[in-house]
Amino acid sequence: MTANTERKVALVTGAASGIGAAAMRKLLAAGHWVCAADIQDIPVDDMQKPLRARLKTTRCDVSSWADCQRVVAETVSAFGGLNTLLHFAAIHSVLPWDELDAEEFNQVLAVNVTGSFLISKAAAEHMKGHGGGAIVMTGSGSMNSGGMGGHGRGGPAYTSSKGAIIALHRALAKSLAPHGIRVNAVSPGATTTAMTADYSADALRRVGERTALGRIGTAEEIAAVAIFLASDEASYVTGEIVNVNGGGSFGI
Ligand SMILES: NC(=O)c1ccc[n+]([C@@H]2O[C@H](COP(=O)([O-])OP(=O)(O)OC[C@H]3O[C@@H](n4cnc5c(N)ncnc54)[C@H](O)[C@@H]3O)[C@@H](O)[C@H]2O)c1
Repeated sequence: MTANTERKVALVTGAASGIGAAAMRKLLAAGHWVCAADIQDIPVDDMQKPLRARLKTTRCDVSSWADCQRVVAETVSAFGGLNTLLHFAAIHSVLPWDELDAEEFNQVLAVNVTGSFLISKAAAEHMKGHGGGAIVMTGSGSMNSGGMGGHGRGGPAYTSSKGAIIALHRALAKSLAPHGIRVNAVSPGATTTAMTADYSADALRRVGERTALGRIGTAEEIAAVAIFLASDEASYVTGEIVNVNGGGSFGI
């Protein structure tokens, strides 16, 4: 397919579940072409045919450079370009410091940090020569709070990985701005997805009570802000982190 710069083409990682799945569906409903990538199958059986016609699903391990290159090539081949990367894929780790070993620590960094770099690099290599684009990465409120470890909350490996993603997104925002590529990040507070499915109901209630809005977030609420950051409405925004946590940053 020849290049079509009129089309809004997005690559969404982590699209099988939670925030990535919500972003995939929102983008399709808004008329975008979407390549949805995940390490697991992406359930779309319930999706209406007109939306399905603008969707490609593919398997991808974001910690693999070969996979990241392939998935960008597949997107460009299917839809004629790539303007937007919404990168949500990540793994959680709840082990507290005294149970955490190097193997788990390195695995979390490989997927969450190296994966963020590799998928962004692969997307940017295409965007660079094709009119630029926008990348949105995903931090977490736990990078500020230190997480908790245990009790189903982010432990040191996860919180470290999320802090590193924020440093990475700032570095890439500077490096890629000359190529017309903006790089921003959303930093969600606790959100109802598979990642928080193991939290106890009591823990979720208490986390919600510590926000100004008194509740935890939905996947759709996080996806909406990520989509805004990638849109032309945010054309003068780069290197920013937007907390999407119901006012959970105020320390109440
Ligand atoms: N849910 C929350 O409370 C919360 C809070 C803060 C930040 N986040 C962040 O939001 C993002 C989305 O998380 P979610 O809550 O939707 O979780 P989720 O578990 O529902 O979705 C994560 C997806 O990433 C995929 N994935 C995991 N490893 C992968 C890999 N190597 N390659 C490709 N895909 C892979 C999973 O298969 C899954 O579909 C993550 O970056 C997460 O850290 C979530």
